Formats: sequence, structure tokens, C-alpha cells
Amino acid sequence: MKSITKLLTEKVSAAFEKCGYDSKLGVVTASDRLDLCQFQCNGAFSGAKLYKKAPFMIADDVAAVLKEEGIFGKVEVVKPGFLNLTLTDEYMLELTKEIEADKFNGVPQAEKPQTIVIDYGGPNVAKPLHIGHLRSAIIGESLKRLARACGNTVYGDVHLGDWGLQIGLVIAELNERYPDWKCFSADFNAETDAMPELTADLLCEVYPFASKKSKEDEDFKAKAHTATFELQNGREGYIALWKEILKVSIADLKSNYSKLDVDFDYWYGESDADKFIPELMQILEDKKLSYESNGALVVDVELESDKAPMPPVIVRKSDNSSIYATTDLATIIQRRKDFNPDKIWYVVDKRQELHFTQVFRCARRADLVPAETELEFLGFGTMNGSDGKPYKTRDGGVMRLSDLIQTVTDASLARLENSSFVNEDDKESYAQKLGMAAVKFGDLINHRSKDYIFDLDKFMSAEGKTGIYLLYTVSRINSILKKTGDCKAELNGVYTEAERDIMLKLIMTGDTFNYAMEEKAPNYICENAYQLAVSFSHFYHENHIMDEQDEAKKASWIALIKLVRTMIVKHLDILGIETVENM
Ligand code: ARG
Repeated sequence: MKSITKLLTEKVSAAFEKCGYDSKLGVVTASDRLDLCQFQCNGAFSGAKLYKKAPFMIADDVAAVLKEEGIFGKVEVVKPGFLNLTLTDEYMLELTKEIEADKFNGVPQAEKPQTIVIDYGGPNVAKPLHIGHLRSAIIGESLKRLARACGNTVYGDVHLGDWGLQIGLVIAELNERYPDWKCFSADFNAETDAMPELTADLLCEVYPFASKKSKEDEDFKAKAHTATFELQNGREGYIALWKEILKVSIADLKSNYSKLDVDFDYWYGESDADKFIPELMQILEDKKLSYESNGALVVDVELESDKAPMPPVIVRKSDNSSIYATTDLATIIQRRKDFNPDKIWYVVDKRQELHFTQVFRCARRADLVPAETELEFLGFGTMNGSDGKPYKTRDGGVMRLSDLIQTVTDASLARLENSSFVNEDDKESYAQKLGMAAVKFGDLINHRSKDYIFDLDKFMSAEGKTGIYLLYTVSRINSILKKTGDCKAELNGVYTEAERDIMLKLIMTGDTFNYAMEEKAPNYICENAYQLAVSFSHFYHENHIMDEQDEAKKASWIALIKLVRTMIVKHLDILGIETVENM
């Protein structure tokens, strides 16, 4: 289905043309004064300059044509030249039925579907997932679902940090603690030597310990660097140990992500880009882009238009090791070969913007992808505590994601304690869903680039713009539908103002999806879902569906709230939020 403003723009453009004006003047937008009209077109003002004519005269001409269309209940010209449009009830009903019958629920499908790789999640092996990774997972997952719902082919890649210094730190520390492990000896044999059993708990303890130690102990720091370098250069025992670390870490990560209902199509890591580094280096050399500077190999990425200094990007350090930028550049080569994408989106903390600017500019200079391939950094802000500083544990440490999930699940359990709707057995799984709805909606309602305050009480509130309010709305509709289960459901008219309001919101949904997709901003989906729920609440207060005597009216209302439910669930699904039957 086309979005309503697109459809109306086509009609109004044709009307402009019919009157002898440029069709481009017929752009229709949603009205910002719903008390006056539903849609508006301000093209007559630009027309006035083009045709040296008063804007209202142009608008009058166009209005006369539009009145013949039969879909507008009101076509009004307001001086000096606004064209205000309102649809007839019949046409609104027709559009609503179309949404009801549409297998995409009115979500406009891309005219030219694209292949999009979304780089999100970005956890690091051997380091616990912390809340910094939460936003990437929540926002990236939602963008993936949104782009898919619009008909694109989308691949989510977790881009695991599995190749950097953190692994060297863990290896060096394990070596000090367990020097007898076979994997540390020079004559290690991968075929015959046994590997130690590792656990996620051990890794989570070892990494912060080793990281702290490396800051106080130069000797240890050097060992960690050597271990990293030797690993990256294929030392057998280290590779075998690294594979064990990877196995344990990935299993732990997957279990955490599944609690978030976030999943990735690819579990590629930085290490998978390693084999493309020689090709990258060759391209940079052939194109005469890389040069030596203080022993390192760098590429200039400065532009004349830069207002702030833009340092060259380092692609190889003086100790010959590759770094973050090298990996990201090599990964671009890998993605081009694997997916030939139209777009690559990076959902990463906005503090990494400089890094990505450097990487993208270097990739462009080296033509690593065709010029039309979009490389876009979708930076997100920080989740803060009530003190306005990055959210921490009570004792001031970095909050682990698993602890956060537990905290919100406990808060939800407390809320469900006295609920008569939920069986004892279901409480735990309900609590998880409620908690996730609260956290995800609380995050996604903010534009991704903004910092926000994690306020669990607010997120858990059953009123206002919260995930819980939306789950309540769905559960309320569920219970009405259960009680009216035997009644007919069929859209057949518009009986009250409240329905008109709901239908308009439903009809505007296509535009919301288009906008969210263009802006890569799920917050518009949150807002629209909330608006739909509010419209439903008004409707529900004003009309008594259950005891309505007029059968036709009742049937239409039941069908309408069914559709509202479908649409709210669709919105929530795109946000990665699951609903519950009853609460
Ligand atoms: N692992 C990185 C971190 O924790 C994030 C990775 C983001 N993606 C990328 N292609 N660099 O900061």
C-alpha cells in the first residue's frame, strides 16, 4: 500500500497539472492543525511566484478540481493560499479496510528493495556485556526489523570484538595463573594436547583483573601485547586457547541476547576480517594512499572543508599489529564480497564517530565499495543514571547487562504479584516480557542520538509513553475480544468522532513507517504506537462495545479494535517488544 500522503500528493499533483500548473507543487503533508483539516498542501505559495498570480487564486483552481475527486469531504482554501483537505468517512473506511486486508498491514514496501548490512551489538569476547552494549542491541534490532518490514533484505552482523588486546590480556593472565597448561608451551600440539575447561564466570573475572593489572604493571602489559601479537600471527597454542575462549563467550552472549529477543544472522568477528587485511594493504599501497609516519602506516583522510583537525587513520602500528581501523576497513571488503550491500549501517556509541569518519573516508579514497554504497554511522547516546552520568551499579561499577535484566524482571514480578490474570506458572515469563517492554520502549522512545535517563519507575508506569501502557492496551483489547468472541466483526461505517480519530491514525501509519525508515529512527514507531493506544482509550471510554444493541455498529467496532490490536502488535514487534495475553 502507498502511504496516504504519497497517494494524496499524486492526486493533488494531477489537479495542479490539470489546471495548467507544475505538478511538483502538489506536495501534501499531514496537517499540523487537526482541528482545521487532516491534510494540507501549500504549493500555491510557490506557484504564486512562478505564475505571478495570487496564491489563493491558484489554490481555488486546484480546489475546484479536487472537489470532483469524491474522496474529500472538505476542500477548503484559506487565504492567503492554504489548501486544507479532509477525507470523507467513506474513503477513510475504504482505506482502513485496505489496511485490514493488506498482508503488510499498510507498511509501504520499498519500490527498490535494498540489501542492508547492519553492524550492531558489537560485544567483546571475554568481556561481560554491559549496558553500553544494550542500546546497540535494542536500536540495531529494531532498525533491522523496520528495514525488513519495509521489504528490504537485511543482514544483522554482531561484529564480535574477538581479536584485540582484551584477548591478549586474558591469555597473559591465564598464563601467569596456570603456567602448566599445555597450550602455553612452545611444543603445543593441537591434535593431541588437551585443552582446559573454561567458564564464562572465570573469563568475566579474569578480564577486568588483567586489565587493571596492565595499567599498574608495565611488564604484564608488555606480555599482553606480545600475546596479542603472537595470537594474531598464528601461534598454535594461543589459537587453540582463543577458540576455547570464543566458544564459552559466544554461548554466554547468545543466552543474554536471547533474553533481549535480539538475534543476529551472522556472528562474524573482527578475526574474520583478518584474511582481508593483506588485500587492504595492497590496495592502499597500489593507490599510493598509505605512507609511513613515525614507524606506523597511515592514510590521510583530511578534507579541505574540515573545521576541526582530522588526524590520519593508522592502518598498521609500529609494532606491526593491526588495529581497530584496519579491522573495520578489512570488514568493508569482506561485506562487499559476501553481500554486495547497498548500505552498511553501524549502530555504535556516538563517541566512536571520529573513528568511523576516518574509516569511511579511507574506504572512499580506496574505493573499497562502489561510490553509491552508503556507509552510515548511526551513533547513539548514553544511558545515564538519575545523576546524569552513565548508569552504574550501586557500588559505582559498570552495570552488567545480565544484572540489569534481573533488576527489571524483579520489578515486573513485584508488579504481577497480586495479578489475578496471570497464572503462577506464567509469572516469570510474563515478568521478563514486561521488563523488556519497559526497558526497550524507554530506550527507543528517545531519538537514538540523545542521551537519556534510565528511570525504571517511569518505564514501568502503566500510564504515559511506556511499553507497559502499550502492553496494557493490547491486553485490554484481548479481553474485550474474548468477551465478544461470538459476535460478528466487520468494518462497515464510521459512527463516532473517536472512530474517525482511530482511522486517521491507522491511515497515517504508512507515513510513520516511511519516515522512521528514512530517518533510521524507531522513535517515530514508538510515538505512533502510543498515539494509536491513546485513540483506542478514548474510543473505549466513549463507546460501550459490549452492550451496543445496534449489531452493525457493534460488528464494525469489534473489527476496528481488532485492527488496532494488530497494528499495535505490529509496531511493537518492530521495536522488538513481545506482548502478553493478559495482565
Ligand atoms: N566492539 C566495539 C566496542 O565495544 C564495538 C564494535 C562496533 N562495530 C564496528 N564495526 N566497529 O566498542
